[in-house]
Amino acid sequence: MADYRIPSEWTKDGMVFGQNVTKETIERLESFEMNEGDVLLASYPKTGTTWLQELIWLVCNNSKMTLARSVPLDRRFPYLELKLDSSHTGIEMLQMLSHPYLMKTHLRSETFRKQIEIGKVKVIIGIRNPKDTLVSFYHFYRMSYNLGNFSGTWDDFFELYKTKHITYGDYFQWYSSWLQYKDKPNVMLIKYEDMHHRMTDVIKGVSKFLGKMLPENIMDDISLQLSFDSMRHNNMVNKTLTGTFNMQISPFMRKGKIGDWKNYFSQEQSEAVEKSYKDAIEPFGISLEFE
Ligand code: A3P
Repeated sequence: MADYRIPSEWTKDGMVFGQNVTKETIERLESFEMNEGDVLLASYPKTGTTWLQELIWLVCNNSKMTLARSVPLDRRFPYLELKLDSSHTGIEMLQMLSHPYLMKTHLRSETFRKQIEIGKVKVIIGIRNPKDTLVSFYHFYRMSYNLGNFSGTWDDFFELYKTKHITYGDYFQWYSSWLQYKDKPNVMLIKYEDMHHRMTDVIKGVSKFLGKMLPENIMDDISLQLSFDSMRHNNMVNKTLTGTFNMQISPFMRKGKIGDWKNYFSQEQSEAVEKSYKDAIEPFGISLEFE
């Protein structure tokens, strides 16, 4: 299974893509200009991106529940590099929206280097502990038509990860590329585990970072809308409308827990990931919760 290939696979700098992300789109993004007030959410897949998207959107839109409950999140907060249908990528969908743009990407920072350095765009980096991220990614590989509905076992998937043959590339390389910017004034880092334990503080932190002062009652509404149960049943965010996943294999909103990795990782796998974590994440002064 270590030789598993996703349909129409191509690679760029150790990142593996299928036909829904093209070289042309990535090149276009390299010279895409961002404006004052735009927000770029950068996260490795399966680190709680959807959760953060909904949070940021609600904060920026004063928790407009009627819109949040009637327009799919992918339309309100485009996924820049992804081709959604035969004619539209996320970057093209922005033309149907007005500034400030809310944009999601799973690409490494190199693509956006110029915009990050100019500093007009506000960047939010989402991170989750690597062990839970990999388990979530394994189930995502199984359910995703675009990724070929991977039919191997967890150990097979771990081999793919070890050989660094995985869509969007290696977790640690990915974060090394983004975390170099974490102390810039236009950059904020949010941990998935903090959203579990300290959601109100995270909402307040994002509001402050984006210059949106929200009354307490609106923050409470946002918290409720962001609960796992609420998001799991909300078709605007739970991906049932995308048609690109087999939810019989695994729902997109799968478990939403910290520590599920313990049901999958062997001792050896756990030690290998811990070593990479110590080498690549801790030097940035970051510590993540694993349970
Ligand atoms: P699990 O597969 O571990 O359940 P992404 O949006 O980056 O693809 O991340 C998906 C992961 O975030 C899934 O993890 C999903 O369940 C989790 N998630 C999404 N919304 C959540 C919420 N409201 N509370 C907790 N976890 C959530």
